[in-house]
This record gives sequence, C-alpha cells and structure tokens, in this order.
Amino acid sequence: MAEEEMNWKFTGKNGEFRLENADNNNRLYFPLTNEAGMMSAISPLLNGDIKTGQNTFAMEPVSIDNLHNNRSARNFWLLIDDQTLWSAAGNSAKQISQKYSEAEAESTKVEAGFLWHKIIRINQEYNLKSEITNFVPANNDKVELMQVKITNKGEQARKITPTAAIPIYGRSADNLRDHRHVTSLLHRTKTIENGVTVSPTLSFDERGHKKNKAAYAVVGADQSGKKPIGFYPVLEDFIGRGGFLDWPEAAAKKMDNYLEAGAEIDGYESIGALRFEDINLEPGEEKTYVLAVVIEEENDDLIADAAKKYCSREKFENYLQENKDFWKKKLDKLQFDSADNKFDQWMRWVNLQPILRRIYGCSFLPHHDYGRGGRGWRDLWQDCLALLIMEPEGVRETLLNNFAGVRIDGTNATIIGSKPGEFIADRNNISRVWMDHGAWPFLTTKLYLDQSGDLDFLLEKQSYFKDSHTAFGNQIDDNWNREDGNKLLDQENNIYQGSILEHLLVQHLTLFFNVGDNNNFRLEGADWNDGLDMAEENGESVTFTALYASNLLEMAEILEGLKSKNKVETIEIAQELKILLDSLTESVNYDSVAAKHELLNKYFDSYQTKVSGTKIKVEADSLIKDLKRKADWIIKHLRKNEWLENEEGYKWFNGYYDNDGQKLEGDHPLGVRMTLTGQVFPIMGNVASDSQVEEIIKTADNYLKDDQVGGYRLNTNFNEVLMNMGRAYGFAYGHKENGAMFSHMAVMYSNALYKRGYAEAGNEVISSIYKQSINYQESKIYPGIPEYINNRGEGLYHYLTGSASWLLLTMVTQVYGVRGDLGDLVLDPKLMAEDFDQNSEAKITTVFADRDLEISYHNPEALNYKDYEIKEILLDDQEIDFVKKDNSVMIKRNILTDKTDVEKIKLDIKLK
Ligand code: G1P
Repeated sequence: MAEEEMNWKFTGKNGEFRLENADNNNRLYFPLTNEAGMMSAISPLLNGDIKTGQNTFAMEPVSIDNLHNNRSARNFWLLIDDQTLWSAAGNSAKQISQKYSEAEAESTKVEAGFLWHKIIRINQEYNLKSEITNFVPANNDKVELMQVKITNKGEQARKITPTAAIPIYGRSADNLRDHRHVTSLLHRTKTIENGVTVSPTLSFDERGHKKNKAAYAVVGADQSGKKPIGFYPVLEDFIGRGGFLDWPEAAAKKMDNYLEAGAEIDGYESIGALRFEDINLEPGEEKTYVLAVVIEEENDDLIADAAKKYCSREKFENYLQENKDFWKKKLDKLQFDSADNKFDQWMRWVNLQPILRRIYGCSFLPHHDYGRGGRGWRDLWQDCLALLIMEPEGVRETLLNNFAGVRIDGTNATIIGSKPGEFIADRNNISRVWMDHGAWPFLTTKLYLDQSGDLDFLLEKQSYFKDSHTAFGNQIDDNWNREDGNKLLDQENNIYQGSILEHLLVQHLTLFFNVGDNNNFRLEGADWNDGLDMAEENGESVTFTALYASNLLEMAEILEGLKSKNKVETIEIAQELKILLDSLTESVNYDSVAAKHELLNKYFDSYQTKVSGTKIKVEADSLIKDLKRKADWIIKHLRKNEWLENEEGYKWFNGYYDNDGQKLEGDHPLGVRMTLTGQVFPIMGNVASDSQVEEIIKTADNYLKDDQVGGYRLNTNFNEVLMNMGRAYGFAYGHKENGAMFSHMAVMYSNALYKRGYAEAGNEVISSIYKQSINYQESKIYPGIPEYINNRGEGLYHYLTGSASWLLLTMVTQVYGVRGDLGDLVLDPKLMAEDFDQNSEAKITTVFADRDLEISYHNPEALNYKDYEIKEILLDDQEIDFVKKDNSVMIKRNILTDKTDVEKIKLDIKLK
C-alpha cells in the first residue's frame, strides 16, 4: 500500500479525516460525547464502552487491552442467503481470522469528524458494503446512536437476515470483578416494542446497597421506523451454550426462538439483540437500520421515547447534522490560519481536547483506566485555562466556585464533587499534599484577569474548605466532625468567607515558610509529577519554588493594578494571616529554615478548628512590599544555590532534592541526571537570566532531546529505581513520568521559552510533538496531542491530557501573541517567516472582550520574528491608535467594546 494511504488524511477544512485500514490498529479509540454527560469510546471494530459515570456503564468498561480482548462490542450481524454469517462491524471470529490472509477479502476505512465516527467496510466475497456511523446527539439525552447502512455492490440479489447485538452491562465499573455474577441477578430485563431494557433492582455496594434508579436500553428500527420482529434479551441464549459473541448461535442458525415485546426474563447477563425481518437486497440496493443505546438515570421517559425520537434514517441524519453544527460552532471560536493547513486542522482537534476533559474527567477513555470520574485539583484549574479561551461564558462563576476548595492552611480538598464548588472530605481519611496545587489557581486567575480586566473578582468573597486535615496534613483536627460540614467556620459558627485575593495569599504565603533543609519548598506528597511520591520527609521541589516566586511577583503587579485602576488602597484579610506577612511587623530572616518553621507553626497555632472571624486592613503598598521581598529572596537563593555545571560543561537548574536531602540532578556514576521540569519554571518565572536560558536550551538539546519520541524527554535515564524519589522511577525508562516525551511538561517548556522571547526554541518543541503525533505509522493515534510518546514513538492516553490546554494557550497568547493585559488587548506575535501563507498572511480567530475577533498579520517582506514590528493596525479597514510596549502593542479594551455594530471585528496588522 502506498505510504500516503497508511496515514490518516484530512479530507476537508474542518478537521474531518479518513484512515484506511484503521482496524489494523487494535489500540485506536475515538470519543463520542455530549454536554449531558453521555461518554462513549469507539474503536474501528466498534468495541469500546458507553457510560455516564463510574456507576452507570451501559456497555462493559474497557481498558486499552480490552479493545482486542473483549468480545462485548457493538455488533450488527447479517445472515446472508440463510447460510453465511457476516458481521457488518467486521467483528466475527471468521473475519478476524481472515484479516491477514492473502486474499484480503475486506477493505475498511474510518472517517471521522466533530464528533462522529464512521467505518466503511467492503467485502469482496459477498459484494456487500456496510457503513456504520455512531455519534451522541448534542442535546440533553444520554443516548448513543448508530446507523448501519448495507449496500449490495454485487450483481445478484441477496437474502439478508439482520440482527443488531449490543450487550448491556448495566451497572458500575466496580462490578467488573467485584460480584460480576451476583450483580447480573439484579437485572430486570424486558422486551419493549423496539428493543430490550435492563433496570437493575439495586446498585450493589457492600457498604450499603442502594435502590437503583438507572435503566439501560438498546432500541432500534429500520430506515422508515419499522420495528424489529423480535428480541434475544438473554446473552447466554443469544450466543448459545457453545457460542461466542463473535459467533452467536442465534444469528448464525437463524433461530426463531426470539421473544416479542412484553416479555421479562430476570437475573441474567443481558443483551440488546434485535432481530429485524428478512430482506431481499437487489443489486445496488441499500437498506438502513438505526439503533439507540440509552441510559436513563432519573426515571424519565427517555427509553420509552427513544425509538420514536431517533430511530429512522431521516431522524438520524437530522440529528447527525445538528451534532456536526453544534461542534463546529463551538470549535470555530478559535481557529488558526497559517501556511500549514494540516497543522491548523490538527489544532482543531487539540482545541477540542480540553472540552473532552471537562466532560470525561481523567477516567473514561480506554487508556484512562483509573479514578472514578472527575478531575484532580490541578486539572480542574488548568483545564480552565483553555476554557477561558474556548468557552469564556461562565468561567468567572467556575473560578469563584473552585476557590471554595482551598483550606486555610494553604492546602486544598482533593476530592471534587459533581456540583460546582462542591468539595468532599476523603472517606478514607487519607491526607496527601501536592505542593504544586497552590500555584495553579493563581495562573488561571491571572489569565482571567488579563483577559477580562475584572479586577473586582479578587475582592469577591468565598468560603474555605474544612475537614480533619490541618497543618499541611501533619495534624488531625479531632475537634472537627464530618457533621459540621465542609466549610470553615468562625467563632460564632458562621461560615467564614474571605476574598479571592486572600485565598491566593494563603496558598502562597504558607508555602513560602514550608521549606526543607535546603530552604526550598518541601515536595510533600509530590508536585506536578504525580510520580515523585516517595520523598515526603526531606524532598524539595526547587522548580515549583521558582513558580511560586514568580506568582508572588505577579500578584504584587496585580495589586498595583488594583490600586491604580480600582483605587483600592487597603486590603482586608483575616487577622491570622498577618503572621505570614512578617515584614509588616517583625521581619523574619529568610535564610533561616528554623525561623521559617517557627513562623509557620505560629500561624497554624493561631486558629483551632475555627478562625476568629476578625478581619484587619493592610495597606496595599505594604502587602506589595512583603510579596516582593519574599519573591526576591527566593530568586536570589535559587540563582545562587541551584544552578549546576557538570563535568562536560553543561549548565542547568537542579529541580529537586530527594528524600535524603540530596540534589537529584547533576553528574552521577549511573549517568547524568537532568529533568525538564527543573528547567521549565525557572525559565517561565524569570528566575533564569537570559544567558541561563540559553545554557538550558543547549543542555536540554543535548541530554533530553530525542527526535524518535517527538522531542524533549521528561528526564534522562537515571538507571535506578529511586526509592528516595518516587514511583515514577519504577516505570520502565521512556514511559509516562519516567522520561517519556511527556506532552504537558514539554508544552510548558515551549510556553516558557516563548515567554522569554526564545521563539525559535519554543517552536521547535511544538513542531517536534506535532510531527510525531501526525505521523500515524509511528504515533498510531488519530489527530490530536497524546499525553505522552513512548520509546516506540507511540502516542498514549490520547485526548484527555492537560497538554492540550497549554498548547492552545501557547498558540494563542504566545505564537499569535493575542492576550490580555488587565483587560486591554496585547498583540505580540512570535510567528516565524514560514508560518505566513502565500498571501503573506497568518490569521487567528478568537474571542476577546466578548467580541469575536479575526486578527490577520500581514508580513509582505517575509520577515522572521525579531526582524518585524507592528507598524499599522486597521480595524475594519480604519486605522486605529495603539500603544507600543517593548516589542508588542496594546489596544485599549474600549476600542473593541465600543464596536457593537459588527458580528466579528476584523483587525489587519501590518508587520515590517
Ligand atoms: C497527568 C495528570 C496531571 C499530572 C501529570 C504528571 O497529565 O493529569 O495532573 O500533573 O499527569 O503526573 P496529563 O495527562 O493531564 O497531561
């Protein structure tokens, strides 16, 4: 086969693509979902699963290796001329065994787009073609639709007996192993007019069984809405005692013992097996069937109505079009138009990914076989970065709600409830502190403030989270009872509320004093790298110390903004917090680890279970001074103590101390030790000087760059299971958090380089990831950015990764340089000469100040970044004023907001 055909190809302008022989890759999966929370995964053989949460799986939950192991896939059987059984989905024992035979009886291709999946299969032996399309309609229903179209491509008529077969698992993922059989006894399985329903009596949980509310169904009809003639609702009856799901006896032998509507058989594994009437398919004729897999959670009438609502060809096509329009509209909000159309279309898939993670959390695609749904604290905040650009409506509310998860000791709740602002105390009372958690809310809030100029947000009030863990998880508060609720109270038992600014201060000031022996912030249970979880006593995260330092400086800048723009001279804070603002009273010697600990303990001792509720006012100026003093101390400290030079003459920052209090990085008898994370935050936060950034680029290129895996690895090979650092080093080298090209950190590296003006180096990081990801023969994934690339160059954990947020953020705010500065619009492009198309143009469509913007950069002289400057700006063909600020320009927000007469504002920017 031509090499071209072995890669997926974009077929239009909106990210639709085609992949020939997709079923030769048994680890491929594609997401289908809607805002109502129906979450499906589908493979080329229609394997995968369908669910709305951990406890409501319509199809059996699958991990990546179940995509080839599990037979409980969606299927559609045709018995041809009463003799030959053929799976229109390609998923029969015979077809699979024939797949690699010389004759190659079947050819397949997947076509997919936002958010639909189609597999086309042609069988040369029977001259039959099947086209199976799946999607989840963009409405409030928890339904996956599947249309099966069969065409007779031959010259003789065929008698066909069609049977749809989708096993209904109908229970919690926990029951996959735990009481799999017993939970089938709970099944109440009925046949209705159009299909099979399963309503389990209980949801099984030995800690307390509950009456079950969810019901599941598979319903179907032919193209004109005609019902099936009967049903085989019991799995073991359908497959037969000696049969298999990939060779079901009832379909193969055309058994007539099917049931009509109105039957009930309880207590067995169930299947939505729907037998349709026999048809005679003339040459060239086609016939279509539509199926719906339904999850009904609140005893509504969804199951009863589903067939009428969805099951005909016309209805299916209408909903499909509606679905395509829905996603297109959403994704059209952000578009890139450069010389590389393939990259621009690939970015549309990346732009979708943060929305997918908002819906799926980190748990519900085949690689993501952990967790029980929902996202962690860090992901909650970082996904908002992208949502601020993709779906800005409602983000203010979300951010405000999220702050309710902060504890007054600076840590935060780790179990996030399903309702906005709901945080839950850990049932098992596990206290684990991730020391990076306090840093992300500030980054997201800063982006929000810059985009919106809504500085008043900082003064909004929010409560604090309270449970038994206190003093950084080192103490248990015996006076707190679960019944007291999860909100911090004051002495009068009122829910204590502090400003958002106060929450941010708490998160940063406490950590400032929580240092290890080397005077960097303690690593605690881990930082961004969840795998650094075995250095709790003496580990330190130098790199996040750098991020906190830059946050402190930026917080000081924002306070300046609050002063000058909103005329706020004093800030109200909890009286206890004053202890942490030591320069207001008695300055602590920051070189002394002991003095820092003493002060932190004084703060922890200043409240017991409840806070006083008393607020004090501090001068904004004194606050700014205190924050700057702390940040400056950190920066000096890091530059002095953590900058390394090894024997080969390479220089970089040490990122960590291990549990023995030793530097992790540098020369080592087992090989040079370097982490990418260690470099990212000193660069991003201006801790590294320009010359240090240049040294780091050289060192990372030498020790971490590997073109076989899409660029910069997370670390060098330590050749040792570091029991004094974390589980990551138990992973084989080159996988996940041990030295894979881990997209999230690599993209943050790129972001940091761009921020510092090293656009060429930043561009190299992104383009390495891009090139590897689109090289399907190696990466083996559909378009988009995977969580990481392994040693074989393959992309894993596709779709649900924080790297997508950071990539789109970097593209918008750095590469195209479109970002806010406390509400005003900054344009600071860092595009390369080759990014401009044949009309010397590079364009971005995005939203700013509630306006749709189309910003075109014109570069007639094909200049490179650093050689061009913004010379002229036309707004809808009229020249406008702008303020030059270093290399960038600033346009006042009101110039945009005053424009109310157009749907989309066009800005043409001349570069020279
Ligand atoms: C995942 C987690 C993220 C964590 C990272 C490293 O990254 O979601 O919270 O920081 O692993 O351990 P992601 O898949 O989002 O790129």
